[in-house]
Amino acid sequence: MSAIQSLVLKSDNSGFDETLFAAIADDLYHQGYSITPVALPSALCTSMSQYQLKMDEQRFKAAGIGRGNDYLKNEFVRTDEICWITGKSPEEVEWLNWTAQLQRYLNSRLFLGLFSFESHFAHYAPGMYYKRHYDAFKGEAQRVLSIVTYLNSGWAIDDGGELVLFTDDNDIEGIKVVPLMGTIVVFLSEDFPHEVLPAQRDRYSIAGWYRVNTSVSERVDPPL
Ligand code: OGA
Ligand code: MN
Repeated sequence: MSAIQSLVLKSDNSGFDETLFAAIADDLYHQGYSITPVALPSALCTSMSQYQLKMDEQRFKAAGIGRGNDYLKNEFVRTDEICWITGKSPEEVEWLNWTAQLQRYLNSRLFLGLFSFESHFAHYAPGMYYKRHYDAFKGEAQRVLSIVTYLNSGWAIDDGGELVLFTDDNDIEGIKVVPLMGTIVVFLSEDFPHEVLPAQRDRYSIAGWYRVNTSVSERVDPPL
C-alpha cells in the first residue's frame, strides 16, 4: 500500500466507531433510547470541551455589563445559555463530521431517513435547569432523533444536573443520567419527555437533533 493510500484509509476510518454505532442502533431498535458512558471518542471529547471553555470565556467577556435579552429567553422553562454549532471552527467541523457518520450509520441500519442535523453547545450555570419537555411533537414531522453528550470532567453525586429521561407521559421517576464527559444519550424525540435538574456547578453539554426531510413540492427546506 502506498503512503497516500494508507493516509486515505486512515482518515476514512478515523473516529468511526462501528461498535459504538452498532450498540446505539440496537438500543434504539429495542427501546427507543440509548445511554452510553465514555462513548464519545476521547480526542473529540478533548477538543470539544477545550473549545467550549475557550468560547465561553470569550462570550463572558463580550457580554460585559448589560446582557442581551437573548440570554434568558424562556426564563421559566430553560435557563441555560446556548451557542449553535455551524462549522465555524475546526472543532465544530470535527463534531459535525462525527455526527454525520452516526447519521449515515443509523440510516443504513434502521432506515430512519435522517436528513439534516442541528446542534448547539449548552452551558448551565449553577442553579440553571431545563424543565420537563419534549424535543418534538407527534404529527409535526420535524426532530426525529435527539442526541446529547456531556463535556464535564468529574461529577460528584451532589453536583446535581442530571438529565432525567422519562419513558412516557406517566413516568414520574425516569432514568437519571449523570452529565459526565463523553456520555452519549440518544432518543426518539417524540417519545421521551425529559428534563435537566438544577446543577450545583457549571454544566456543559452539546444537544443535537436529526430531522427527516419535511419538504413538500412547493416548500423546500433550506439546506443547513
Ligand atoms: C435540550 C435538552 C439535555 C441535557 O437541550 O433540549 O434536553 O442534558 N438537553 O443537556
Ligand atoms: Mn430536550
